[in-house]
Amino acid sequence: MEKILVVDDEKMILDLASLVLESRGYQAIRARDGESALNLVEKESPQLVLLDYMLPGMDGMRVLRTIREKYPKTYVVMLTGKGSEEIAVELMKAGASDYILKPFKSRDLLERIGNVLKIRRIELNNQELRREKERLLKEIEKWNLELEKRIEEKTRDLEKAQREIFQAEKMAALGHLIAGMAHEIRNPLNSVTLFVQVLKPSLEDKPEESEILDRILQEIDRIDSILIRLLATSKRSQFSPEKVLVTEVINLVLKSLDDNLRTHRVEVKKDFQTIPPAILADPTEIEQIFSNLFVNSIFEMQKGGKLEIRVTHDANMIDILVADTGKGIPPENFTKIFDPFFTTKEKGTGFGLSVVLRIVKSYGGHISVESRDEPGAVFHIEIPLKKEGEESLFGS
Ligand SMILES: Nc1ncnc2c1ncn2[C@@H]1O[C@H](COP(=O)(O)OP(=O)(O)OP(=O)(O)O)[C@@H](O)[C@H]1O
Ligand SMILES: [Mg+2]
Repeated sequence: MEKILVVDDEKMILDLASLVLESRGYQAIRARDGESALNLVEKESPQLVLLDYMLPGMDGMRVLRTIREKYPKTYVVMLTGKGSEEIAVELMKAGASDYILKPFKSRDLLERIGNVLKIRRIELNNQELRREKERLLKEIEKWNLELEKRIEEKTRDLEKAQREIFQAEKMAALGHLIAGMAHEIRNPLNSVTLFVQVLKPSLEDKPEESEILDRILQEIDRIDSILIRLLATSKRSQFSPEKVLVTEVINLVLKSLDDNLRTHRVEVKKDFQTIPPAILADPTEIEQIFSNLFVNSIFEMQKGGKLEIRVTHDANMIDILVADTGKGIPPENFTKIFDPFFTTKEKGTGFGLSVVLRIVKSYGGHISVESRDEPGAVFHIEIPLKKEGEESLFGS
């Protein structure tokens, strides 16, 4: 039921108006002056106030202004005396919805009030719709931002994946090339060895020449072992998976490098924060990861330093950090160091890290080099605990 507050200092008008309004089903409440009108508006929140312009004390204009300012949902219809059309204009400007001249006919009163209430409903409804629209717009804006962020993330992921695919393809192509070359070279090399061996008996009485032949054989052996290494780099040898504890492999590799570490006064700081469960892997391959990394680190710390190995894991990943205090890797080399043949060492072959990368990837893992504030190199390796189908990049 709509509530209407009638404000007039004349009791007769109050009675009359209330009667008319109640006959139409409105709830009428009444006040005889401005102050009590405002109190009632505060307490009862009427939909509409029928307000006399001429009031004792606080005048109708002020009451009107106060109501429109403080209770915008309460609409006001003014009652004014005849001949006050000019005032009526002022009243409308001050926020009255309509005005009725006294004396009024009850049919008129009801019609005006009915109209104002109808307009009020529409306006309030519009306001509600506008608020809802604004809320929705804000929501859309939020979603857009979220969407943009996600697109950015996905783009970054995609770019990273593309770089990795490119690297993998490059490696695969090189791998084929290297394997083919190594294979082809080993055959004639084999023949050379045989020829030298055939020659040898005929030089038995010439020790100097005979020694030269021995040196030739030694050099051939060296070439052959380089070729075998090349083949191993580009191709996965027999893959014999078993349960491997990464931390145990790390310990083994460190042990095998014990002399080397001691000679160069490299302090090892092992930080196995958790012991990850065993993974199904070829232990030789896992060994290769760490021996290559540790040997590189020791090379950079010939005059002493610290080799730090941190291991943690969660349900899906083993997380390994290998950090040294050597001279570090300049950021412009970050992407190159995993390329086969890339080396900065006089006697390096540049294969170590490409082997590491191939192995880590064949386990579905990930390796990256990171820069840090202190001098030194940091390698970060992730190996999944559960392997996702895929075998090796190069196949086996
Ligand atoms: N711990 C490290 N600190 C500084 N530089 C490093 C480190 N590890 C690797 N590098 C850089 O990356 C290059 C490539 O390393 P990688 O192990 O592939 O080859 P290499 O050590 O040069 O030769 P190889 O391992 O075949 O004997 C190195 O020559 C070196 O410049
Ligand atoms: Mg190396």
